[in-house]
Order: sequence, then C-alpha cells, then structure tokens
Amino acid sequence: MLSAATLHPLPPPIRSGQAVTALAPMQDVTDLYFMSVIASYGSPDYFFTEYFRVHPSSTLDKTILRSITENPTQRPVFAQMIGESIPDLVRTAKLLSQYPVAGIDLNMGCPAPRIYRKNVGGGLLRDLDKVNQILGELRQAVPGRFSIKMRIGFEDTANFEPLLDLLDCHGIDLLSLHGRTVKEAYHGAVHYDLIARAVARLSCPVLANGNVTSAAAAASVLAQTGAAGVMVGRSAIRNPWIFRQIRQQLSGEPVVAVRLAEVRDYIERLRQTPTAMTVPARARVSFLKMYLNYIAQGVDAEGNFLRQMRLAQTEAELFAVCDRHLLGDPDALFAAEPYPGLLARPGSESARSASAAERSDLISSASLAELTAAARS
Ligand SMILES: Cc1cc2nc3c(=O)[nH]c(=O)nc-3n(C[C@H](O)[C@H](O)[C@H](O)COP(=O)(O)O)c2cc1C
Repeated sequence: MLSAATLHPLPPPIRSGQAVTALAPMQDVTDLYFMSVIASYGSPDYFFTEYFRVHPSSTLDKTILRSITENPTQRPVFAQMIGESIPDLVRTAKLLSQYPVAGIDLNMGCPAPRIYRKNVGGGLLRDLDKVNQILGELRQAVPGRFSIKMRIGFEDTANFEPLLDLLDCHGIDLLSLHGRTVKEAYHGAVHYDLIARAVARLSCPVLANGNVTSAAAAASVLAQTGAAGVMVGRSAIRNPWIFRQIRQQLSGEPVVAVRLAEVRDYIERLRQTPTAMTVPARARVSFLKMYLNYIAQGVDAEGNFLRQMRLAQTEAELFAVCDRHLLGDPDALFAAEPYPGLLARPGSESARSASAAERSDLISSASLAELTAAARS
C-alpha cells in the first residue's frame, strides 16, 4: 500500500530540495494582512490560518476565510480547525475543502485551559479513543491533504507513541509537532529528541516546532531532528525576515542581517494593520504593544526599548520610543537571536514581571480577543 505521504505529497517548496518552512498558526496574529506583511519580507513555504472554531452551531469565520480566498502570498495555505464534535468537524472540513486550501489541519495542541478543558485542542491528547474516531472520520471526509498540529502529550508523554501510531494508521499527510506537553505551555526546553522520534516513526513529513528562533537555530533543529522542515511562530513576529534567512542559511549563502531602520519600517506596516486602524486609539496602542513585546527582544540587550515601550500611554509616545531606539543609530543591527532574559509574554504578563505602572497598561489575552472581535464585528 502507498504511504499517505506518497498519496498527498507536500506542495513544492520555494527552493526545491531544501527543508521547508511554515509560519505557525497564531490566533489574532496570522491574518490576511500579517500574511502579506510576512510575504513581503520573504514567504515561508506554507502558511496556516488561525483556527476555525468548530461546534454544532459554528459557521466559517469570514475574517479567517479571507486568508484563504484572498491569500496574496502566492504560497499555499492550510486551513486549521479546532473542535471535538465529529459531525461538525466533518462538516467543516468538507466546507473548507471547497476553498483553495493546501490541506485541512486539526489543532490538537492548544494549551489554553479554557480550550483544553472542553477537550479540544491540547485536551484531545488525553483521549486516544476520541483521537482515533476523529482521525478516522476526517480522513474519510478530506479529499486532499489532512494534517495535524499537536504537542508531545498532555501532562506527560505516555500517549506520545500511541498517538504517532494513530496518525500513521489514519494516513495523516503532515504533522507539525511542538516539542512540549500541553502542561509545559511555553516553558522550558523543547524536546527535540521526541520530534526526532516522530520523524523516525511516521511515514509522513514532520515540521519541527518550538523555539526556532533564528536561521542558525533552524539549521540546528533540522540537524537534531531530521524533520522535513521547521514551523516558526513567535520568532516570525519578532523577525519577519526569518524565512528568507533560513533559506539563505540552508543554501550556505550569507544570512543577510537586518538594520534597526528596517525594523522601524516593519513596525510602521504593523501600524497600518486593518484591525489597528478600526479600533479606538488606546486599544491601538495595546494592539501594537503585542507585536512590540516580541520585536523588543532583538533591539537592545538591556531591555530599555521593551521597558519604555510598555510605559507608553499614547501612540505618539509609543512611536517616539520606537524612533529613539530604532532610528538613533539606524544602521545598527537587529539581533539575530532574542536577547536572553527579555521575556515577551503579551498574553500573560504577570504581576511578577511588571512594575505597577507597566501592569496598568499591559495587554491581557482578554483585551486582545475583545479588540479583535470588535474589529471583526
Ligand atoms: C499568540 C499565539 C497564538 C497562537 N495561536 C495558535 C493557533 O491558532 N493554532 C495553533 O495550532 N497554535 C497556535 N499557537 C501556537 C503556535 O502555533 C506555535 O506552536 C507555538 O508558538 C510554538 O512555536 P514558536 O516557539 O515558534 O512560537 C499560538 C501561539 C501564539 C504565541
């Protein structure tokens, strides 16, 4: 019997023969506009949409759908779903398959408690029987590529190898594997050894995900895991040049460094994000800070930009901070790797990490979600 990988090979990469890259799906970030911004700095081989929520009364989110129907990047986009109701997952997968998608992706990794408590996202990793049923039904329903994005387990890795065997048994076409458990969230080291184990055990390609912070890190992760490619999330927000740099690194070409003035231009483009343009001024400042939290990790080792931008109350103050730090010495280089010790936690800033003044203006997940919902309504 042909392996699933043979039946639905991956779309050709930008550079043939090279390991592939993908922009990780990121809710409230990887929308149509952000995809076009990323593409302008050098596309990944593949994009993934934010997740479509699936439940008995769900319809396709129109805003997310636009990243498929109006995809301006010339690169394939996978449509990601999150849910646990099998008839509704099947219904949604069939609907999405009618659009120009590279494949249908199922989220089995989201670590947010409000998600996993409903047994969706990472919550599914606790229930092998349910995963078996979902994969069986979706494999029947999806005519083209059917991919999974997951973590290495929920609390521990006891289910890891049985999960891999289920993926293989159901002919999954691609696995994007974040090498942490759900309970590890974003903390601690990524278990690249387990990604290597998945590569060895599965017949489909695997994208290694988690802390691929630079072109050099991508090369190292590929060497450690033998994966078919890397999936990059937060580091693409910090450094949208990363996919071009990875291609350069893997071809043995010089990796072109980025000047701080170019970073300032990137921030200007984020300022033009349609979501940002449609919300009140104060919400716009919060919205931009979400991105700046990541970008700041490459600006200065002392974290002065990070601290000062967090304190800015108005857009004018925020951009004055940007100008001071990024245009003072415009030819200075943006760090290839995040500076150690600078934490970008825009969705989970805690009392421990911020002064009272900073706390008053930090972004919470709720405010971001509200912001996005307001912009979408
Ligand atoms: C803001 C944010 C939103 C995310 N949203 C999603 C999502 O919608 N679907 C998903 O599968 N993973 C989501 N993730 C997880 C990422 O896709 C990725 O697996 C994770 O960030 C680890 O990769 P990284 O270290 O390169 O960031 C999200 C992560 C972040 C930081």
